[in-house]
Amino acid sequence: MPGKKAAIGQFASVNHMRRALLGTGAAALAAGLASPTFAGQAAPAGLAAAWRKALRIGVAISNETLDGQVARDLDLIAREFNSVTAENAMKWGVIRPDGVNWQWQRADRLVEFAARHDMYVLGHTLVWHSQIPRTVFNDQDGKPLTRAALLGRMEEHIATLVGRYRGRVHAWDVVNEAVDEDKGWRHSPWHDIIGDDFMEQAFRFARKADPAARLLYNDYNTHNPAKVAFLVDVFRGYRERGVPIDGVGLQSHIGLDYPDFDEFERSIAAFEALGLEVHITELDVDVLPNPNEKGAEVSNRFEYSRENDPWPNGLPDEVQKQLADRYEQFFRMLLRHRTSVKRVTFWGLHDGVSWKNGFPIRGRTNYPLLFDRNMRPKPAYERVMQLARAAL
Ligand code: XIL
Repeated sequence: MPGKKAAIGQFASVNHMRRALLGTGAAALAAGLASPTFAGQAAPAGLAAAWRKALRIGVAISNETLDGQVARDLDLIAREFNSVTAENAMKWGVIRPDGVNWQWQRADRLVEFAARHDMYVLGHTLVWHSQIPRTVFNDQDGKPLTRAALLGRMEEHIATLVGRYRGRVHAWDVVNEAVDEDKGWRHSPWHDIIGDDFMEQAFRFARKADPAARLLYNDYNTHNPAKVAFLVDVFRGYRERGVPIDGVGLQSHIGLDYPDFDEFERSIAAFEALGLEVHITELDVDVLPNPNEKGAEVSNRFEYSRENDPWPNGLPDEVQKQLADRYEQFFRMLLRHRTSVKRVTFWGLHDGVSWKNGFPIRGRTNYPLLFDRNMRPKPAYERVMQLARAAL
């Protein structure tokens, strides 16, 4: 096994060697899967292999994994997933921390790792109001940019980032979270300076930078009928006017008892009816008490209380089972929409690194993913695997 800080390149070859020795891995054998399909590489085992006939299974890679080139994380990712998203590394404020100068190392590592493993790569995200320095929206005197100047900045950002990874990043979350629940366009500097067309401009710039990449709009609470109705209207207009959008990303930061899956499924059907691809982009299932009625609105924070952090030392079996049930129901729903749903991406590799331990309340112990804090598969993992075996 590679050392903890093995370079990604080193890791990949050792991993390949290990796979070659072990065949396609116990999970793949148990699933009755055939031999490798990727040229010169072993097929992924685990989740990605089990679901291969229906959709891709992705994971968000953290900055910590990329910075440390943590072999243990990358090994699990290569075994279980066939798609990756940078959890933070490609956001404006992370890849251009001072607003202007580029820090490519993390994103480069992610793209190289993915290429070595034939993974489908998501670029997240080009135009968002969060995790972006305020200076992006101001001129040298600190005054708000004009519409023309901000459009220029947007185009330069998209052309440079999408252009660098042309052909290697397969789909982009072009615009993230542009809609404010029941009220239409969200007020953000992007919207307020440029106007309602800021989003379509972003899609046009992205298409120009990589004509082959799939271009997505990504948002949370996409089960909310008012939000969906607004978006469906916007996208119908895009279709009519030739604005280059290919699909919609449903973040899917869900809980044990929200949202209502019938409502969620109606949203999938509504986007599907427009001929859009549907991607589940940031799946996790929060098991803790939820004070946040606004879903994944990242500016919402609440005070810590012991009452809101009921299971610091482990999840009770009963809740573990509820989590497995919930995941099974979710994947069953996706199976009903196999033609339009292309991918499911989990927002984090294991419970220990999930953003849900810190959001919307800091310092809690949450259990939203399929791997536990020791990176072992949970009952929910087994359930998702069983469903694939039974249904595909
Ligand atoms: C989150 C990351 O997981 C955190 O590490 C970061 O501190 C804040 O952002 N919607 C999105 C994601 O589109 O980019 C957010 O990711 C979660 C909500």
